[in-house]
Amino acid sequence: MAELKFENVIKKYGKTEVIHSVNLDVKDKEFLVLVGPSGCGKSTLLRMVAGLEEISSGTISINGQVVNDIAPKDRGLAMVFQNYALYPHMNVLDNMSFGLKLSKTPKQEIQQRVEETATILGLEDLLLRKPHELSGGQRQRVAMGRAMVRKPSIFLFDEPLSNLDAKLRIQMRAEIKLLHRRVDSTIIYVTHDQVEAMTLADRIVVLKDGIIEQVGSPLELFAHPANTFVAGFIGTPPMNLLEAKIMGRPGRLHLEFDSGLTIPIPEKPGTELTLGREVIMGIRAEEIVPAQEEDSSERSWHIEAEVLVVEPLGNETHLHVTIQGIKFLSKCEGRRIVSPGDPLKLSLNLNEMHLFDAESTRVIY
Ligand SMILES: Nc1ncnc2c1ncn2[C@@H]1O[C@H](COP(=O)(O)OP(=O)(O)OP(=O)(O)O)[C@@H](O)[C@H]1O
Ligand SMILES: [Mg+2]
Repeated sequence: MAELKFENVIKKYGKTEVIHSVNLDVKDKEFLVLVGPSGCGKSTLLRMVAGLEEISSGTISINGQVVNDIAPKDRGLAMVFQNYALYPHMNVLDNMSFGLKLSKTPKQEIQQRVEETATILGLEDLLLRKPHELSGGQRQRVAMGRAMVRKPSIFLFDEPLSNLDAKLRIQMRAEIKLLHRRVDSTIIYVTHDQVEAMTLADRIVVLKDGIIEQVGSPLELFAHPANTFVAGFIGTPPMNLLEAKIMGRPGRLHLEFDSGLTIPIPEKPGTELTLGREVIMGIRAEEIVPAQEEDSSERSWHIEAEVLVVEPLGNETHLHVTIQGIKFLSKCEGRRIVSPGDPLKLSLNLNEMHLFDAESTRVIY
């Protein structure tokens, strides 16, 4: 079993603080994904867990034991890097056995573990090849195999799929998910790709500039983003985020945009919105769709728009539109036969609207 705890973890390089007091609990057997833009501190956090980077202050514990001063090899974990880091002069078999040989594991056990792992990863026929004789995906599997033979209680992955082409990435993504079910280990997985994060994670940690913005299950983050950063980061295409002001009168509030466009704010019990407050309205593209004539449900609100750009993706269509001078992105199922310049009646599902405070960017509605 392996639980991890980060308590007030800070990392400084010289005088620059790059990780600002991170607190986080990782549960036993959890698949936790750290996601965030380049330079936000994902690798640094992971390398501190591995012991490859010193912790400037705070503690990291594994199963209740502080590991700050414990050598990497004694932490019971294995790390898989983006660039695989295989030994180029060794064949697959030796690459996979190397760590076990170093730790003086009996020969027979090494053989058994390597064979077992090679079978799981479909590497049986490649054991005598050198890394340069393998495809990117095969090398990636060897790198994973090398970590797996050590039977670690914690796996650390740092963008392991980023060197692969799109198709292989999807395939390996499924393999990693399967692997997690098989090995019963705790996994911390770093990526900057929110789709990878959504598809793999039990829980996602969104990191920005060395600060945790939000922690939650993929669907929690999608449905209830805590701030505009998470709202814009999770989900494809990104959520529409637009500046507006709260106007009207109590009980009949609306949003007013710079162009004069007004959109009603459905009443929600328990929320208090003050008149005149500057906000950012968030609405996902899929909540804005061409209106059906017969659709008069009270959930949706209809308005005339003009089509600017049409992006047909086959199974769905993205429409860039303007509504009274404000640009929105709409995403609809299937194909849409519309052209730039066409007028189009849209239906906005205002019950799925989010409001964020313009200054703090935190969610208020
Ligand atoms: N050895 C170092 N010395 C000084 N600054 C460093 C060092 N390593 C990383 N940094 C800085 O720390 C910050 C976090 O870096 P880190 O590599 O953790 O980012 P990341 O989230 O993994 O980014 P990417 O997605 O590009 O891999 C960055 O601003 C980076 O420039
Ligand atoms: Mg990194």
